[in-house]
Amino acid sequence: MEWISLVAALLLPAVSHPAKSQRDDAAAREAFRAAYTVLMHPRCMNCHPAGDAPLQGDDSHVHLQNVKRGTTGHGKYGMKCNTCHQDTNLAGANMPPGVRDWHMPLPTTRLVFEGKSAGELCRQMKDPMHNGGKSLHGVIDHLETPLVKWGWSPGDGRTTPPMSYSEFVQKMHDWVDNGGACPE
Ligand code: HEC
Ligand code: HEC
Repeated sequence: MEWISLVAALLLPAVSHPAKSQRDDAAAREAFRAAYTVLMHPRCMNCHPAGDAPLQGDDSHVHLQNVKRGTTGHGKYGMKCNTCHQDTNLAGANMPPGVRDWHMPLPTTRLVFEGKSAGELCRQMKDPMHNGGKSLHGVIDHLETPLVKWGWSPGDGRTTPPMSYSEFVQKMHDWVDNGGACPE
């Protein structure tokens, strides 16, 4: 079927790795493993839990006040996120942190970090059913949002991820540009 391979040849490079024509699985896996140390940090994992409640603190305990994701990720009933979380961090220990539109992923495309191995999280991130229907480059673009950047200015008394924001974004780019292979 000549035309199938022709169509594949025309489409596939654009879809899977537009930035680079060569894939390097070992480099992609190594880049993802490095980025994984950030993704699993409490500043990130606390909004990407396995259950329907966000988590709090470096010990990632379940959010107090029975706060839940809700249908839009913005909380339920009287416990909407923006009741307490403002557009900026409130000063002082254990005060609510914040950036504009503080919320969790939707229940239909819950991007779960908690409890995932590097391989599982990598495969989940590539699955449009779990990442909001995005291409890998769409996932990278999302890293520019305030919710992610907040992790590096999280308010008084909170630790930050193990590498800088720009190093993290570079690792994610390295992962995608080398073809997006996942660790086992
Ligand atoms: C306040 C909650 C919150 C925090 C904190 C948070 N995220 Fe997210 N994250 C979300 C939401 C919500 C989405 C779904 C997309 C959206 O609505 O912006 C998401 C999606 C993502 C995605 C998927 C990309 C995509 O295209 O959907 C990645 C990757 C991600 N976050 C990484 C991080 C990292 C890294 C950190 C820590 C530095 C972090 N998140 C911290 C709420 C959060
Ligand atoms: C009743 C007030 C209140 C509501 C409603 C609320 N929060 Fe919080 N949240 C707080 C306070 C206070 C803290 C800080 C706790 C601390 O640092 O000990 C916090 C901390 C957090 C953290 C932890 C930050 C970190 O990395 O340690 C996340 C994540 C979070 N909230 C997400 C949400 C989300 C998502 C919603 C809506 C679904 C929400 N919260 C609704 C009061 C609230």
